Amino acid sequence: MIEFRIGLLVGSQSGNAHLVAEAVMDRAREWGMAARILNAAGDAVTDYSNIDGVLICTSSHGSGELPDNLTASWQWLSSNRPDLSHLGYAVIALGDTTYSATYCAAGDTMDRLFEALGARRVQGRLRIDASIQPFADDEAIGWLEQWVPGVRRQLEDIRCSRN
Ligand SMILES: Cc1cc2nc3c(=O)[nH]c(=O)nc-3n(C[C@H](O)[C@H](O)[C@H](O)COP(=O)(O)O)c2cc1C
Repeated sequence: MIEFRIGLLVGSQSGNAHLVAEAVMDRAREWGMAARILNAAGDAVTDYSNIDGVLICTSSHGSGELPDNLTASWQWLSSNRPDLSHLGYAVIALGDTTYSATYCAAGDTMDRLFEALGARRVQGRLRIDASIQPFADDEAIGWLEQWVPGVRRQLEDIRCSRN
C-alpha cells in the first residue's frame, strides 16, 4: 500500500483544535499514513515539499481571526505564494455559531488560501460548532473515516499526475 504523508497545520488558542488535530493524527497513523504536526512551535511553515496532503485544523478567534500559532504560516504563504498544486488539503474548522457573522471564518481563510495556491481540496470542509458539540475530536474522526477510501484515491491521483 502506498504510504501518504500528511502534514497538519494547527490553529488553536486554548487547546480544542489542538486536541482534535492530535486525535486525527493518531487515527491517520493507524490508517498507515505518516502524519505529523507541521507548526508545533507556532512558527512559519515554509517547506511543503515532502508531503502529499495538508490537513488544516483551526479554531477562529477575535472576530473570525486566525489563532496566534497559525498566523506566521498564513503570512508566509500569503507573501511567498508557493505553488502547492502537488498537495491535497482539507479543513477542519472549529467555531461557535453564536459568533454568527464570523462562524468558522479562520477555516474559510485557510481554505481560500490553499485553493488560491493550487492545492486540491480533498474531502471538503468540516465545521464543528463548539456551542453544541462537546466531542469535537469524535466528530472529526467520524467525518474523516467516512471518506478514507476516497481520500486515498484522490491523493493517489494527485501523486500520479505529478509524476
Ligand atoms: C474571544 C473568542 C472569540 C471567538 N471568536 C469566534 C469567531 O469569530 N468565530 C467562531 O466561529 N468562533 C469563535 N470563537 C469560538 C472558538 O473558535 C471555539 O470556542 C473553539 O472551540 C476554540 O478552539 P481553540 O481552543 O482551539 O482555540 C471565539 C472564542 C473566543 C473565546
